[in-house]
Parts: sequence; structure tokens; C-alpha cells
Amino acid sequence: MKQESPGYVVLEVEGKSVRLPVVVGSEGEKGIDIGALRRETGYVTLDPSFMNTAACYSSITFIDGEKGILRYRGIPIEELVRKTMFVEVAYLLVHGELPNEEQRRNFSAMLNINSMLHEDMRHFFDHFPRGAHPMHILSTMINALAAFYPNVDLKSLSEDIDQSTARLISIVRTMAAFAYKKSIGEPVVYPRHDLSYCANFLNMMFDSPVKPYQIHPDAVRILNMLFILHADHEQNCSTTAVRTIGSAQVNLYATISAGISALSGPLHGGANQAVIEMLKMIQQDGNVKKFLDMAKDKNNPFRLMGFGHRVYKTYDPRAAIIKRECHAYLERTHYSDPLLDVAREVEEAALNDPYFIERNLYPNVDFYTGILYRALGIPENMFTVMFALARLPGWIAHWKEMIGSDTKIVRPRQIYIGKTPVETVGVMENREPLLQ
Ligand code: SDX
Repeated sequence: MKQESPGYVVLEVEGKSVRLPVVVGSEGEKGIDIGALRRETGYVTLDPSFMNTAACYSSITFIDGEKGILRYRGIPIEELVRKTMFVEVAYLLVHGELPNEEQRRNFSAMLNINSMLHEDMRHFFDHFPRGAHPMHILSTMINALAAFYPNVDLKSLSEDIDQSTARLISIVRTMAAFAYKKSIGEPVVYPRHDLSYCANFLNMMFDSPVKPYQIHPDAVRILNMLFILHADHEQNCSTTAVRTIGSAQVNLYATISAGISALSGPLHGGANQAVIEMLKMIQQDGNVKKFLDMAKDKNNPFRLMGFGHRVYKTYDPRAAIIKRECHAYLERTHYSDPLLDVAREVEEAALNDPYFIERNLYPNVDFYTGILYRALGIPENMFTVMFALARLPGWIAHWKEMIGSDTKIVRPRQIYIGKTPVETVGVMENREPLLQ
């Protein structure tokens, strides 16, 4: 393959040649559009897990993994966490701009009016096993929304996408809190019209008829910050699932349900819960080096949870903010968590270990998040649910971008390495035909 001009490369294979356009993103990322490759040469490209493949154009989120940059619609996350609320960032991701005062008021009103769960759906919670993981409950309940709002298809959606967006972002918060209350055998707490998005969630989680929950502004601020930092991350596994399922023109709720399922994996959103479980094991054992050695041992499936990232080859900028806020919040609230000391010791050891240094393995968004969730009183099995609540606007933004473009149904090719007719000759000979 050689560069014919700044705008094209030429690939020559088996005497055939094809000119492939070079595409350049607004941040200078370069790609080769291989749309004509198979038609002109008969070849496909092979890139398992799409490590080197851009699946689409997108205007939502920009990540520079080498420099540790993350921007939503061009705005750095460091600015957003300092100067916006999660509801404004949700609007920014879905609509492309931060809302003005009127748009923010209208969006908040839509979130409020859509925060109630259909009373028939409330009874669904009575039939899940007590120990069911809330992520499974959440993906089931979101999928069930398709039964209650069946006409949320592409046509109807173009008319009331704001309605469906507000319903999803708001109702998923109510569902999460209901799932938690049911799991501890307490009566559910309904959303209140006079509370902000994050304050409402904390109140639904922790208020009770016998012990009113004291809403602390500092806790609400921390939750806003965590939700903003988790709100989108371009083409990650769960967002790719949403774009893939959505490309078949599946109902939006069923599409988001698939994103929740993908996020629940321990290599993805499930890592925040796995980090805490790992830190507890290390705390109990007391030997950090032993766990680092296990993580480095190719024959051991153990990995250092909360470390490493497909895109970031430096410190995850979200982890840096969360680590800083974690220290500050625990100090302000005089809440001490021994796992924070364990986390710092693990980070210090790993960042000075050649294995992790050579592979550019740094703390990612999940490494310190769980410690802040513990400080807020969130139970561990709800950590990944928190990630899903925050990621909802990102998933919706990508789904909306995908249906708004001329996306075809996602259907990758493959390289077949299975048996050939030569290897299966005679296999069917002794069978009676079933069809004449
Ligand atoms: C999220 O994509 C996103 O943007 C996701 C996310 C988002 O906001 O949506 O950022 C959220 O999912 C964060 C990641 C949470 N997962 C974890 O913390 C689980 C632990 N991390 C690893 O499993 C791993 O780092 C991944 C899954 C995150 C990334 O895996 P990759 O890109 O497939 O990396 P790899 O397996 O190719 O690793 C390269 C090398 C390998 O060693 P060698 O074969 O080169 O010798 O690094 C090693 C890996 O074995 N490695 C690790 C490691 N992560 C990578 N070794 C020990 N511990 C780890 N955590």
C-alpha cells in the first residue's frame, strides 16, 4: 500500500489495485476508507475486536488515549465537572449543545414528569429473586418498557425523541432505586418533584418512613461529578452494542437494554464492583506484591481490576479527577476507608513495576470510583448500575447519531477456517432424505 496523494492510498494485491480515500477527523485522526476494498480486490480486512478499526464517524466524544484527553462535544471533562450539572451534560450529549436556561428548565420538567414508573411495572419487582443482581433487573425492566411504550420506533421517535430520551434517563434512575429497595425488603420511595436529578436518586435510595434521609449538598455534588465522568466514552463495548443492535431498527428501549447487559461485564462496567472485591482480598491478605505477580502471570486469569484500558495508554483523565475528589471528600466528611490506602498502595506498586510500565497500564475510571460510592453509602452490587445510569445519555446520543445517519445494518465479514467439503465427504451418505 502506498500513499498516492494526501487524499488517497493505493493498495495493490494479486495484480489488482484500488485507490482508497484517506479520511481525516476534526482532531487530525487519520483513517483509510476501505469501502471499495472487497468489490475491487476480493479481499476483506481482519481486525478481531476492532482494535484498529473505526466503526463510524461520530461528533459526540473525543478521546486522545496517548495524551489522556476526553471531551464531550468538544468541551473538556475537566471544565464540565467544574461548571455543569449532570442533567446539562445529558442534554449536551443528546442535543449537541449545552442547554440555555429555558431548555434546561424544560428538560428538567420532562425528566420530572417522566420519573414515575407505570404502576403495573412496579409489581414486576415483586417477582425477581431477592438476590438478583440489579443489573439483570435493570436490563429486564428497561426491555419491558418496550411493551409499555411499543410505538417507540424510528418514525414515532423522530416526533418525540425528547420524550423518549427524558423517559429513559429519568425512569432508569427510579428503576435502579426501586431494585435496591426491593433487595433490602424496604418500601420503595417515589421520586419527588422538588429534588434535582441526583438528589432525587439519593433520596429514593436512602429515605425511609422511619428514618428520613438527610440530603447533603456535598454528596449530591460528588454524584453529579461521577455521573458526568461516566456519561460517554465514544465507541466502548456497550455503546458499540447499542449502535449494533440499533442498526437493525430495534425499539430504543430494547436497544438500551442490550447496552446495559454489555456494560455488566467485569472487563467493562462491572469492573468498578470487581475493584472493591479485589481491594478487600488484598487488604485481607496484606501482600500487594502477590496480587501484582498474579496479574502478571499469563497462566493466571487474575487481572488487576481497574487497571489498563483499550484506548488510554496513560492515566485515564477521569481516574485522576475521581482520585483527587475521593481524597478530598473523605477528608471533608471525616469518612475513612482503609480500602483507599490499599488502592494507593496498589497504584504506587503497579506504576513502578516494569510489567505495567511497558504495557502502559494505568488506573482507569473504575479504580477509585467504588471508594467514592462506598462513601456515599451505595452498596457494591449497585456500583455498575450507577455506571449504567450515568451512561444512558451517551448511549442515547450514539443511537440518535446512528439512526440520523445513513447507517446500514451492522454485519461484519469473517475469515472462514472451518471444514471444507473435502473434509466432510461421505458424512451425509447414510442418512435418509427428509425432503424429496
Ligand atoms: C471500562 O472502552 C472503554 O472506553 C471502556 C470504559 C468506558 O468508559 O466505557 O472506559 C469503561 O470498561 C474501563 C475498563 C474496566 N475494566 C477493567 O478494569 C478490567 C481490567 N482491565 C483489563 O481487563 C484490560 O486492561 C482491558 C479489558 C480494560 C483492556 O484490555 P485490552 O485492550 O484488550 O488489553 P490487552 O488485554 O490487549 O492487554 C495488553 C497487555 C496484555 O499483556 P501481553 O499479552 O501484552 O503480555 O496488557 C495486559 C494484557 O495481559 N493487561 C493486564 C491488564 N490489562 C491489560 N495485565 C494485568 N492486569 C490488567 N488489568
